[in-house]
Amino acid sequence: MKTERWSVDKDVDKNKSYPQIKEAASFLHKNEVVAFPTETVYGLGANAKSDEAVAKIFAAKGRPADNPLIVHISSTSQLQDIVASIPEKARKLMDHFWPGPLTIIFQKKQGAVSDLVTAGLDTVALRMPDHPIALELISTSGLPLAAPSANRSGKPSPTAAEHVANDLMGKIAGILDGGPTGVGVESTVIDCTGTTPIILRPGGVSKEEIESIIYQVEVDSSLKNQEQKPKSPGMKYKHYAPAAPLFLADGEPEWLQTVINEKRNQGLKVGVMASSETASDYDADMILDCGSKANLNEVAHSLYHVLRAFDEAQLDIIFSETFPETGVGAAIMNRLDKAAGHNWIRQKARP
Ligand code: TXA
Ligand code: MG
Repeated sequence: MKTERWSVDKDVDKNKSYPQIKEAASFLHKNEVVAFPTETVYGLGANAKSDEAVAKIFAAKGRPADNPLIVHISSTSQLQDIVASIPEKARKLMDHFWPGPLTIIFQKKQGAVSDLVTAGLDTVALRMPDHPIALELISTSGLPLAAPSANRSGKPSPTAAEHVANDLMGKIAGILDGGPTGVGVESTVIDCTGTTPIILRPGGVSKEEIESIIYQVEVDSSLKNQEQKPKSPGMKYKHYAPAAPLFLADGEPEWLQTVINEKRNQGLKVGVMASSETASDYDADMILDCGSKANLNEVAHSLYHVLRAFDEAQLDIIFSETFPETGVGAAIMNRLDKAAGHNWIRQKARP
């Protein structure tokens, strides 16, 4: 199929009319899928009420049917139609973090969205993205939009329209190009259906920020222990992986350089993902700087771009430094651990 590409200035002016967004919305009404920018990563949107439309998301991505989708809304009035009730703590989180990178799980109202969206669960994930183009597309279409990240399943999420085009050209009706996204990692997913809210996926809003609003929050035990089954179906899949095998390297640059030298002596082409502080310490076939350890927002912003950039060289193996797990660092390390298939090498054995 032909994939349309529309460029839109990120700073949408509410008082103006945007033919590109109108055209994208008309495709959504015809049950076609359209990629659009959000503040986290690009999403692949479709009418959440239509089985036909939602099935096209799963087909384009090659996404397993048991992995439910997030429904994107542009106003809290859309919420009433979709959720059975709004718990007090969810309301507080919405008031504080919406629009923004926080996805909240509610009990769903039966029949409100396609059962394909929720993969047979009796809960539904909702978020209001903090991006003018996303909000304008949702409000122009008047539809709740089911939207996963706009990558082929297993690949890093797209943080630029180019990434979407590389993965999905010819498979979707169109791409709204609003330039690079901001946060760079996906939204935090929090389940608010029980007494104590539980973080199912770390993301753009940190645990510390959530705690400052609702005091008590748990973290799904599967995030700390791989033996546990995750409460969020999507968390069990390998994800974000570059083409060459990736290893997380926990240790000093001097030590990692000796490991790199060993591999290169075996004739392997080696890539390194390093912080700005240490990138110049390495000698390897490709060294990519993903930002300062002292500014984890910078690392989150460039993480997926860097993971994709490794695929431009024919590498045999990639090593990544590790990052502090505070704030958005929890999401960065969660994604890197998945991209590495949980494979680590360590300078010192863990105590
Ligand atoms: O930032 C984001 O969240 C991006 C942008 C496009 O909004 N979207 C995104 O969607 O990351 P996706 O499909 O790649 O990830 C959605 C995650 C998956 O881990 C899925 O299993 C989980 O949310 N999820 C969706 N509905 C759920 C539910 N009812 N219960 C538990 N987990 C759910
Ligand atoms: Mg995804």
